[in-house]
Amino acid sequence: MTIRQRVLSPLPAGLTASPQSIPPAIDAQVSEFRPDEHSLPSFFVWTLGCQMNQSDSEEMAGQLLAVGCARAASMEDAGLVIINTCAVREHAEAKVIGRQGVLADLKRARPGMRVVLTGCAVREAERPGLARRFPAVDLFLRPDEEPELALRLGLASAQAPVGLRNVATAATTVVAGRPVSAADGLASSRASALSEKRVARSSTISAWLPIVYGCDKTCTYCIVPFSRGPERSRPFDDIVAEAREVAGDGFTELTLLGQNVNSYGHDLPAEQRFAHIATERSAGRRLDLKSRPDLAELLVAIDSIHGADGKPVIPRLRFITSHPWDLSDRLIDAMAGCESVVEHLHLPIQSGDDEMLQRMGRQYTLSHYTERLARIRQAVPGIAISTDIIVGFCGETDEQFQATLRAMGEIRFDTVFAAAYSPRPGTPALRLADDVPPEIKRRRLNELLAVQQEIGLECNREWIGREVAVLVERVTRVRRGTTVAVTPPSDDAVDANAEPDDPIIGVPDLAGTAGEGSVALAGRSRHNKLVHFAGDPALVGREVTVMIDYAGPFALRGRATNPLPSAGHRDA
Ligand code: SAH
Ligand code: SF4
Ligand code: F3S
Repeated sequence: MTIRQRVLSPLPAGLTASPQSIPPAIDAQVSEFRPDEHSLPSFFVWTLGCQMNQSDSEEMAGQLLAVGCARAASMEDAGLVIINTCAVREHAEAKVIGRQGVLADLKRARPGMRVVLTGCAVREAERPGLARRFPAVDLFLRPDEEPELALRLGLASAQAPVGLRNVATAATTVVAGRPVSAADGLASSRASALSEKRVARSSTISAWLPIVYGCDKTCTYCIVPFSRGPERSRPFDDIVAEAREVAGDGFTELTLLGQNVNSYGHDLPAEQRFAHIATERSAGRRLDLKSRPDLAELLVAIDSIHGADGKPVIPRLRFITSHPWDLSDRLIDAMAGCESVVEHLHLPIQSGDDEMLQRMGRQYTLSHYTERLARIRQAVPGIAISTDIIVGFCGETDEQFQATLRAMGEIRFDTVFAAAYSPRPGTPALRLADDVPPEIKRRRLNELLAVQQEIGLECNREWIGREVAVLVERVTRVRRGTTVAVTPPSDDAVDANAEPDDPIIGVPDLAGTAGEGSVALAGRSRHNKLVHFAGDPALVGREVTVMIDYAGPFALRGRATNPLPSAGHRDA
């Protein structure tokens, strides 16, 4: 473990060092974990789940770095392990429960090591059972309590930046008679984290930018509203200011984040400057959206941050995850009109059968979904569409599953993230029978993946013979097939929905094909296609023009034609 000496600056005149200056520990479990003034633990963050969790982990790492803790190379080397959990399916929680024994062994070998569990597995309603399910954990923090991490560990002492001592205390609220966490303090704690440079971004190429926390939808299978609380939008100007900062820091790609990123703004106060916004929702619960900022307005504002060449300073602007209720014409027009907004939309469909959609509480029909898609495909020709699908939800018949396969055949998604239904505690669907047997769920999942493999391959083949701008993310392998670097490198990020690397594409074969010193590189096109090609490792972080000469179902392969094009051009 790395021990860092803390250099104490002299106290201002009139003040004496007193134990009272250290805030009392709130949890009994951490009361013994008082800060040792002379040493700070090194930390390791294990992040599971979605991009929102990855962004939250960047804030937590930033807090710990700000108080003087150093990063540890692995969990085994760390004095402090932060586990940022996902609870969307049972498997995600089980993965962390399965590591409890290893963590307990590490703690026995190295007394003083502490484990903090944060993220969506920490739900207020189930707090009493957490210690039993996660016995190696010393401190549990709900997602909205994460800004208190350093404070709760007793690490935010008089030396810490002001914001760490003054975090807003999180509130708990009740949704449908159940206590859930609320994200009230998150917008302001993000603002202070940014002003104090306390967000440790895990990449220098691509930045996350949370714009709305929580979820107001009521999909019957989903735990997210119970873990993340109701929707809370960050102030419009704060987001634009953060985007400007990201632009100034040289990032090429910015991804706006929210569980329902396109319902951004409805909870903010109406303002005269947004009087031109009067969009009505075309499905779902009615909301008064008049004179409130929306995602379209944000896209336009960020797209118009221009450099000296008159082009958007951030050449690639993405947003995830969108909900079909809130895919307004205004948003579609903004996507079509903003040069920096990429030609990719992730729009979860969940099922292709109207009765299943209703049982899932999605409150739209297949025809509503396809109408929105037709509209966006007309406005942004060739846009890549990805989606999420759940198979084997309560009562799903074989015909209803076939309806989903038919919808996939008609819509032709570029990518599908599919999962078998997993009952989650406290969700409304627990009142329905989970009556699709596990082997049928598995069979349907495999059948769906086989259908999508064909469709994905056909979509990808359309790129053969075309040039695409690839933002190079990482070196995949050197000549003898050894992995040399993976970007982002720091946290052990595990995405439940991670795409498999395409087995058909022989990545190692690429190394060396573009001359001495070249390695296998991987990056993304604006359409979010994974592209493999060979080139100089110094190209990581640059946009490179690649001529596509091979397509597999999950990725493309090609050769660099012009290593350094000007950034931000739409693909032909
Ligand atoms: N806010 C996004 C998705 C968040 S969760 C949306 O509305 O689409 C990410 C995905 O996990 C969901 O799209 C859904 O396909 C899947 N998912 C959520 N709950 C699940 C459950 N109980 N079982 C299986 N998959 C689930
Ligand atoms: Fe879950 Fe539905 Fe909210 Fe998405 S919109 S996070 S699936 S409740
Ligand atoms: Fe994300 Fe998983 Fe939570 S998908 S919002 S980390 S339940």
